[in-house]
Amino acid sequence: MSTPNDDLMAKLVALCKRRGIIFQSSEMYGGINGFWDYGPKGAPLKRAVEQLWWKYMVEERDNVEGLDSTIICHPEVWRASGHLSQFSDMMTDCTVCKKRFRVDQMEDPNTCPACGAKAMTPPREFNLMMKTFVGPVFDEEHAAYLRAETCQPIFVDFNTIRVASRQKLPFGIAQTGKSFRNEINPRNFTFRSREFMQMEMEFFCHESESMDWFDYWHQERWNFYTKILGIPEEKLRIHWHDKLAHYAKKALDIEYLFPFGWDEIEGVHHRGTWDMSRHAEFSKQEQECKYFDQDRKETYFPTVVETSCGLDRICLMLLCNAYDEDTADTKKEGMDEDVRVVLHLNPKVAPVQAAVLPLSKKLEGPAKELYCKLRNSFRCEYDVTGSIGKRYRRQDEVGTPFCVTYDFDSENDHAVTVRLRDAMTQERVPVTGLVQWLTDKIYG
Ligand code: GAP
Repeated sequence: MSTPNDDLMAKLVALCKRRGIIFQSSEMYGGINGFWDYGPKGAPLKRAVEQLWWKYMVEERDNVEGLDSTIICHPEVWRASGHLSQFSDMMTDCTVCKKRFRVDQMEDPNTCPACGAKAMTPPREFNLMMKTFVGPVFDEEHAAYLRAETCQPIFVDFNTIRVASRQKLPFGIAQTGKSFRNEINPRNFTFRSREFMQMEMEFFCHESESMDWFDYWHQERWNFYTKILGIPEEKLRIHWHDKLAHYAKKALDIEYLFPFGWDEIEGVHHRGTWDMSRHAEFSKQEQECKYFDQDRKETYFPTVVETSCGLDRICLMLLCNAYDEDTADTKKEGMDEDVRVVLHLNPKVAPVQAAVLPLSKKLEGPAKELYCKLRNSFRCEYDVTGSIGKRYRRQDEVGTPFCVTYDFDSENDHAVTVRLRDAMTQERVPVTGLVQWLTDKIYG
């Protein structure tokens, strides 16, 4: 039996396809499990979130540098990081229905969650790294791996970046980009995908200061979700890891209350000196991995505090948080009562921030002119087809916070009607002040 929350996910998935937000990759071939495409209304949302993260984590800080590394690195990187030997899940197959499961996600490892048969194979290790070959020969010597996390190239590039940017410890290096994991069981829409975007920052410091930096980044990341993205605090929580990696001193997940339950959107990890010492050992380039601290007169492996989040998960959180259906309010706009599907997205991340809707095709000239002016400052859409009510509904479904209607009075009073998505109220705004009005509402 489906629960109301299963329904919510099903409705969200359907809306995302209908409105070109997110849909299955290669759908005409039946799709490919764990891969998702972001359409005309999903790509701008994703970019907006990534830009907010970059601004908050890199551009507004003097002690964090940016990186854009390759997806494929030297295979030794993954041997040093431990991914080739340890980055695996235990899996088991049902010998009846042939489905495959992660053992740690099963209630009873002896019973198939899909068909109920008690015919599971003994659990065995399954490495999650995606493999490819570099060059014309497809043998082990030419094997390479798609990165499973964006942070490893940061460790490898640490010294080059430090020297080039003239940074002293403590400082951080951040990057956003694709990661790949051959997940056994991709699920919950984009939540667990096989190709996904990570946004990671590795902060390098002296061991004695690392706990303070951990607390600092914990707070900063919490603020990003609550203050920058506007997620209500009661829908977020901190989950402290009780089982820590042998090198780690502290680790936490920031979790969001998804329709399918509390789950992780970000990890803040104290990684100790593990990564830097492993890369020193495997590359035999210790000088690239250590730091001479002039103030302390000491050479040491930096201790790393990491903040690591998934962009796709953040977008899914924003969509789940924004999805709403209301009925009575449609009456306010003089229509019959019906269900209004609306995404109450934060205007900073909405794929369309302002839609320009001429009341009549006769007003297309000046309305288009206004649209061309607004799109220099905001993500805009121009829509002239259908009744004004239908056009509002379409914009509601993609979360457009402001609909700007150009009407016959606009010709005389040089003002437009702005309709607010959430309050469903309307304001008359002079055309000359419209850019400032929208700027204040969106970014103020
Ligand atoms: N460098 C540390 C690291 O990668 P992780 O907990 O494995 O840590 C960090 O991943 C974040 O990356 C997660 O909190 C999640 O947001 C995102 N992530 C991980 N696996 C994912 C997947 N299969 N699909 C989507 N996002 C994923």
